[in-house]
Amino acid sequence: MIKGRENPQDTKLQENMDRVRYKIAVMSGKGGVGKSTVSTNLAWALAMQDLQVGLLDADIHGPNLPTMLGITEERFTGTDHEIEPIEVLSTLRVASVANIGYERDAALIWRGPMKLALIKQFLADVVWGDLDYLVLDTPPGTGDEALTIGQEIKPMTGIVIVTTPQDVALLDSRKSVDFASKLKIPVIGIIENMADSDEFKMFGSGGGERAAEELGVPFLGRVALDPRMVTSGDTGRPFLADYPDEVAGTQLRGIVDRIITYCKGVNG
Ligand SMILES: Nc1ncnc2c1ncn2[C@@H]1O[C@H](COP(=O)(O)OP(=O)(O)OP(=O)(O)O)[C@@H](O)[C@H]1O
Ligand SMILES: [Mg+2]
Repeated sequence: MIKGRENPQDTKLQENMDRVRYKIAVMSGKGGVGKSTVSTNLAWALAMQDLQVGLLDADIHGPNLPTMLGITEERFTGTDHEIEPIEVLSTLRVASVANIGYERDAALIWRGPMKLALIKQFLADVVWGDLDYLVLDTPPGTGDEALTIGQEIKPMTGIVIVTTPQDVALLDSRKSVDFASKLKIPVIGIIENMADSDEFKMFGSGGGERAAEELGVPFLGRVALDPRMVTSGDTGRPFLADYPDEVAGTQLRGIVDRIITYCKGVNG
């Protein structure tokens, strides 16, 4: 870049992101597969290990991280250009468009450029401080939000792809893998969520693992279907906070460990 031509917001964004050691975006080809659930539990588990963690809700149309963490009524403090994230734990802070304070049930119509501007503003202006991890929850697909994140955060440590066990997992995940490869972002791996367990059965299991194999990316593990995941999300407590030793809890913790191992391998 020619000296003196830098856009001040771009410089601020880069400086803000440079203070974060690992940046992980959680993505999926299809909606409703458990991205926000995985993002919330991943961020929570990291924060419980005394790591400094930020959780950014990049889902502008359907921001549901605040519901999952019981902070829907919290509002940002700070100024227009210094947004203080919402503190959930001393090691976990969250920023979502829902915390700006629009009417909760109002359908927001955001055009592409507005979404892009809002996400860039979050990346530049949320005062995270020094973080070990920033987890970014994205809306389904590879639209404006994912693209902005992928283009603006350099370098992005990697993306985690969430899918469900059915055979369409391959089709769904391929889009996210292609997206990552176009933007030259590493794929940390695929998670198969809502898998059958001895206790609960619905969608089968194995599609996510097969998709990972065929797409040549790591398989991070499966998370069992567990109806308590829904009640946890609705009551604002991460599943891992209450059920760390249930099947799905143990599986989630294993996945978190694999993600940490990956990140340390990239940048000790
Ligand atoms: N392992 C699981 N077992 C049972 N229910 C689950 C599981 N994982 C997620 N859910 C539930 O499935 C629903 C969708 O999950 P979530 O909101 O995390 O998906 P999402 O991919 O973020 O959706 P969207 O694409 O709309 O952002 C939620 O009600 C959540 O509680
Ligand atoms: Mg979501």
